[in-house]
Amino acid sequence: MITSTEIAGIPLSSYICNASGPKCTTYEELAELGRSKSSAIVMKTCTILPREGNPEPRLARVGKNSLIQSMGLPNLGYEKYIEFSKKLKKYGKPVVASVAGFTLDEYATLAHAFQKSGADLIEINASCPNIKGKPQIGYDFGQMRNLLSLVCEHGGKPIGLKLPPYFDPVHWDIMSELILEYNISFISCINSIGNTLVIDPWKRSTVIKPKKGLGGLSGTTIKPIALANVQAFYERLIGSVSIFGVGGIMNGIDAFEFLLAGADAVQIGTAFEIEGTSCFGYMEAGLRTMLEYHDFSSIKEAKGKLNYL
Ligand code: DHB
Repeated sequence: MITSTEIAGIPLSSYICNASGPKCTTYEELAELGRSKSSAIVMKTCTILPREGNPEPRLARVGKNSLIQSMGLPNLGYEKYIEFSKKLKKYGKPVVASVAGFTLDEYATLAHAFQKSGADLIEINASCPNIKGKPQIGYDFGQMRNLLSLVCEHGGKPIGLKLPPYFDPVHWDIMSELILEYNISFISCINSIGNTLVIDPWKRSTVIKPKKGLGGLSGTTIKPIALANVQAFYERLIGSVSIFGVGGIMNGIDAFEFLLAGADAVQIGTAFEIEGTSCFGYMEAGLRTMLEYHDFSSIKEAKGKLNYL
């Protein structure tokens, strides 16, 4: 059974790795990912300057397997992650940088800086929903064009886009055209669903403090939206762009669903936040069982093999 895969030509020893977000901000957390069964080390989205993030409480559980959060990009500043990316090479697995600018120039500075780092892949976060007054750039197609023309200038390491969820086919069409025009190497879809509201009716209160309780929703609740986005991009990008599936993957069966929809690998956010590093091992085992059940001998063989009624 071959469960190795690749993203943008970079080999991954398994289908499952962490998503940017939970427990990937400090060097100690990243080293723990290095020692775990995560097939890559995806680092927290970084900005030019260090940030404390939003006031607490800024993360809350929603039901059994979902979360709402408005962290506000707490991170140590990009220079630290350039340093970490080099030190993390000792774990012998790909390191993924994730970057977000407050201006297009900042995005360009960050993307170019990581070209000279230990990172193997550079994920441009075009979809952080949690900064007050800053729209998600992934929903502004004109700005996306400007962004892509800047970050893709200095080749070398593969550039990817972390996309927000799209809900209408015309948006998948436009974004796919941009991705192909600017030779984006991979996409990660989807980010959390931004600006959702969870209410505690007994306390008559929001459950998180920032932005009047608005935050990004992740976990089981968003899995069907994530699957639809993976399927939509897989169809439109005709196998030329690698896809990380992200959104509500809690076990190996969920991971198998993303494989059928066309994902080359999956990233785990909410389940990693809730369960810790053990999630990578049990998801890989569950995925293998599903592949065996359907008589597939590799990831490659099963990719995109969704049946339509
Ligand atoms: C944060 C949330 C996100 O969904 C994201 O993509 C990046 C950062 C945050 O609030 O820290």
